Formats: sequence, structure tokens, C-alpha cells
Amino acid sequence: MTANVFASHIGNRFAAYNCDTVEFTREMPEDCVDFSVYSPPFSSLYIYSESERDMGNVGSDEEFQANYRHLVKEMLRVTKPGRLTAIHVKDLVFYSNASERGDRGIRDFTGECIRTHVEAGWTYHRRITIDRCPVREMQKTKSDRLLYKNFRTDAARTGGGLPEYLVVFRKWAEGMDGVPPVLHDPEQHPLDTWQDLAQPIWMTSGVWYDTDETDVLNVRVARDAEAEKHLCPMPLDLTERLVRQYTNPDETVYSPFMGIGSEGYQSLLHGRRFIGTELKGSYYAQAVKYLGEAERQGARADLFVQAAE
Ligand SMILES: C[S@@+](CC[C@H](N)C(=O)[O-])C[C@H]1O[C@@H](n2cnc3c(N)ncnc32)[C@H](O)[C@@H]1O
Repeated sequence: MTANVFASHIGNRFAAYNCDTVEFTREMPEDCVDFSVYSPPFSSLYIYSESERDMGNVGSDEEFQANYRHLVKEMLRVTKPGRLTAIHVKDLVFYSNASERGDRGIRDFTGECIRTHVEAGWTYHRRITIDRCPVREMQKTKSDRLLYKNFRTDAARTGGGLPEYLVVFRKWAEGMDGVPPVLHDPEQHPLDTWQDLAQPIWMTSGVWYDTDETDVLNVRVARDAEAEKHLCPMPLDLTERLVRQYTNPDETVYSPFMGIGSEGYQSLLHGRRFIGTELKGSYYAQAVKYLGEAERQGARADLFVQAAE
């Protein structure tokens, strides 16, 4: 392997690498991944480290997509024919000081990621909208677009809450008939499970399935002085639902940007295998701890199932 791997940890059911994912994924064998799920860095919204390999360390959205394209192409190559990848993204705001015209508004980051995938050969398969609370968003971002003061004095300045999206793509290719289907036993997955997973909007509260934006792994442990901005961990239940719908037990899930390991943690707890890459040393170290913990819990759960059979 010629990719620089700064550290690695091989467990019984997972492999974690501290490296640049673009270099690493390029060297992975073809058709070795059953499913991938991850949040890419949101263009330049967060810079996780000073490293020039950090994909968030870019000057523009165009530069981000140009770098991301290399990974998206390799993700297609390493994915088994007929199988899927899911990205967790949102649209991004821009402000007057970053705009030539001095205007402010929204950048279609989600659409740009979709175009990058389609150009690389992926088939656009599905988009799930994740409901997010605008009050929490206002408290977190203090965004001008969400202030009641503006609503009262000039509502043309106001926008609304920004949802998140899970966008799913499929590798449509020769040989897909040879890949085992993803099967769901009706005893364990009755019709209402399917009707729930098939919802186009996953709600935070209310009518349909409740997603919980606070159900995340604790990131505080991994923060260090060099962290310029904070990591935003992937909510655990989103991965759990996707892994349940799109993989069979024992299959391999890949996250090229695993951060502190959320996608892997859920995959292992639910009896899947996991491969993850992460550039930032402190996040990688925390991921290895969480993945080890999930591997042990997953193995215990398996023992209980076997004992009950
Ligand atoms: C949105 S965060 C992922 C968070 C993760 N889903 C979690 O729950 O912890 C994106 C991650 O990509 C990492 N990253 C950025 N550029 C990278 C690269 N070239 N190779 C590997 N990881 C990279 C960042 O350090 C950051 O941890």
C-alpha cells in the first residue's frame, strides 16, 4: 500500500485507519463494500484540522466538489454492483461578505453533491428529508434568517429552518444480478416496519417516525486544542435505519469520513462489519474506542440470540 496510513486498528469485525481517505480508498479492492454511509465535510463550513488533506480546508464550493469527485469515483469502484451509498448533507447559507454582489442566501450544497455523484456514474436513488427544529437551529447559529426580530421588522430578510437530507445512490452495473439480495424476514420486519422506513420525511417529532437529533455519540472527549471547529456527529438512529434497510447481517459498511465512529458504532451493534477512515488523529483514537465497545456489545447480543435458539 502506498497510501500514508498514520495508524490503524484491526478488530474482529472492524478495521479503522487514520489516513487521507482519498488516497486510501483508491487502493481498496474493487467491489468489497456492501454499503457506505457518512457525512462528508460540508464544504468549508468546518475545518477539522490544518492538514491540506482535510477536505474542509478549501476556498470555495467548486474546489470542494473537485476534490470530493475523486473520492466519489473510488466509492463507486469499491461498492458491490447493485448496492448503495448514502450521504448525510444539508444546504448551506452564504453571507454578504462572501458574495461578489453583496447578497446573502442559500448554496445548493445538496444538489452539488448529487451532481458530483451522477457525473461519477452513480444512479440517484432516493432523498430522505430529516426534519430539524428551527428554534434549536436559531439558538445554535443565531442566524439572521431565523430571528423573530426580523420577522417583526422586515420579514423579507427571514428564511426558515434548514432540514438535513440523506441522499442515496445506487451502483447500477453489469454483474448486479450476481450480488446477493438484501433480504428481510417478515417475522422480524413486518409491513409497518417497511412503511415506516419508506417515509420520505423522517420527523423529529410528530406524525411519523421520530428521529432524535440529540442521539449522538459524545464528541467532547475527542476535542483538542488544535480543533478549529467542532465535529457534528451523525445522529445514531439515522445510520441504524439505513443499515437495517440496505444491508444483510454480517455485511461490510464503510464510512470514508468516520469522525468519532458513529456509523461504525451502529453498524457493529447491529451485527454488521465496518471499515472506517479518518484524517484527524484525536477523532480516529476516539473512534477506535467506540468501535471496540460496539464490537463487544454486538458480540454479547449475538450470544444471547444463540442461547435463545
Ligand atoms: C462531518 S465529519 C464526520 C462525522 C462523523 N459522521 C461522526 O459521526 O463522527 C467529517 C470528517 O471528515 C474528516 N476528514 C476531512 N478530510 C478528510 C480526509 N481527506 N480523509 C479522511 N477524513 C477526512 C474530518 O476530520 C471529520 O472528522
